[in-house]
Amino acid sequence: MNIILCSTPLAQTAADAVVLGIFANEKPSDGKAPPAVAAADKATDGLLSKLIEREEIAGKKFELTPLLAPPGIAAGQLLVVGLGEREKFNPGVSFRAAAAAAKQLAGKKRKTVAFFLGDTKADQTEAAVAGAIVGCQGQDLYRAEKKRQPFGEILWAGSDEKTLAAGTAIGESMNLTRRLVNEPPDNIYPETFATQAREVAKAHNLACEIWDQARLEKERCGSLLAVARGSAREARLVILRYHGGSPDAPKLALVGKGVTFDSGGLSLKPTDGMLTMKCDMAGAATVLGAMQAIARLKLPINVVGLMGLVENMTGPAAFKLGDVLTARSGKTIEVHNTDAEGRLVLADVLNVALDEKPAKIIDLATLTGACMVALGTETVGAMTNNQPWCDTVLDAARRVGEPAWQLPMTPEIYDEQIKSDVADIKNVGEGRWGGAITAAKFLEQFVHDVPWTHLDIAGPAFLEKPKPWSDGGASACMLRTLVAVARRWK
Ligand code: BES
Ligand code: ZN
Ligand code: ZN
Repeated sequence: MNIILCSTPLAQTAADAVVLGIFANEKPSDGKAPPAVAAADKATDGLLSKLIEREEIAGKKFELTPLLAPPGIAAGQLLVVGLGEREKFNPGVSFRAAAAAAKQLAGKKRKTVAFFLGDTKADQTEAAVAGAIVGCQGQDLYRAEKKRQPFGEILWAGSDEKTLAAGTAIGESMNLTRRLVNEPPDNIYPETFATQAREVAKAHNLACEIWDQARLEKERCGSLLAVARGSAREARLVILRYHGGSPDAPKLALVGKGVTFDSGGLSLKPTDGMLTMKCDMAGAATVLGAMQAIARLKLPINVVGLMGLVENMTGPAAFKLGDVLTARSGKTIEVHNTDAEGRLVLADVLNVALDEKPAKIIDLATLTGACMVALGTETVGAMTNNQPWCDTVLDAARRVGEPAWQLPMTPEIYDEQIKSDVADIKNVGEGRWGGAITAAKFLEQFVHDVPWTHLDIAGPAFLEKPKPWSDGGASACMLRTLVAVARRWK
């Protein structure tokens, strides 16, 4: 989307709508409010002051108050969006407030929408720009009459070209991730995902390597391939490389779970649990989106993105309970549940990642329902073999305002639980308790000593219910965090 710096004052800005950000407990005339709020109040002859006085507008987070054709304002509508308390304002709130406003305005076709979000800092503005772009794209890819219509253009007041371009790159990359996740599983399967990745790579100068079935067999990816066996679709592994740093600079590896549909396999999911399982490739889609964003931002870093793509189905050749798989690393795995397939895919992808000699690894996966039991649907679970690296990732998440929380990996407690009587390890823990952690313990077996942080995004990757800032569906969560990590990389 075209985002242009807005140079006209709010009252004179010719747009279909103007979005005005307002903090809680700030009056237009008290000298604290953003200048645009004071200007809008003055132009409308004190309309805002009056509405605040009468408590119609409180500035609460994501509160939306449309003022249609207000006198003194050139735009057709002034949409007042609450930003909450100024002290608590951060890029996370900023992203969601802009997305909420954009979502509401995108309910109709509009050519020009202007944002006067307030006297926000550059990181907050960047997040808001991304939010505005994400907010006007819905999940209704196949409805004849779309609920959301992206604007023709956005005007942005009080920023600079660089911030707007960065926010646009991030917002559009999030929409790429979201679209891939929201697409039906019969459109996005390993082969088509790989094709899309190749196109992204071509457009943004990333090196792209795609391993097909034959190559995966040659590479002895027995764990990943076992999951794919029940499907009519062949597996793929996509490797994207971005070289923004010097050739010998330490490399970051991003690894994504790309189960394009998770039926559960022979450990078949019930209908309710299966309905949203097109989202099980969100980890891979987020890696692809992040690679695109990092390339567009031209960050001075070397990154390799690896996406393991399979469909988990129940066809005649499907892998079975009791099967023993040999992973690429040589480890043998006894299968106790074919629905614990994500870790089997990642076991081999993490092993391929090690060949790249990365300094550090982050993996993203819609890995366990247990993580949602532990943390709810809005918080990402983080698990690690290296505390400083996890702290770095969590700090990035905090700075961009994405909720994430660490779960323990205590060896004495959890290491026992993935031991098998038949093979080196088994693919589930003892019983269902601590399932997010035993899944991470399994992955840990495949990263050796490389600092690694695992992000279980099962909850926040796909919103089953609408939120003020989203119609629901794919969220592209953690993409902004990955960009923040890449920006501070040393
Ligand atoms: N893809 C699911 C996890 C999931 C659940 C993601 C809900 C998003 C929303 C994963 O492959 C799975 O089925 N995990 C099992 C593991 C169990 C069999 C040990 C689970 O969480 O129940
Ligand atoms: Zn599963
Ligand atoms: Zn899965």
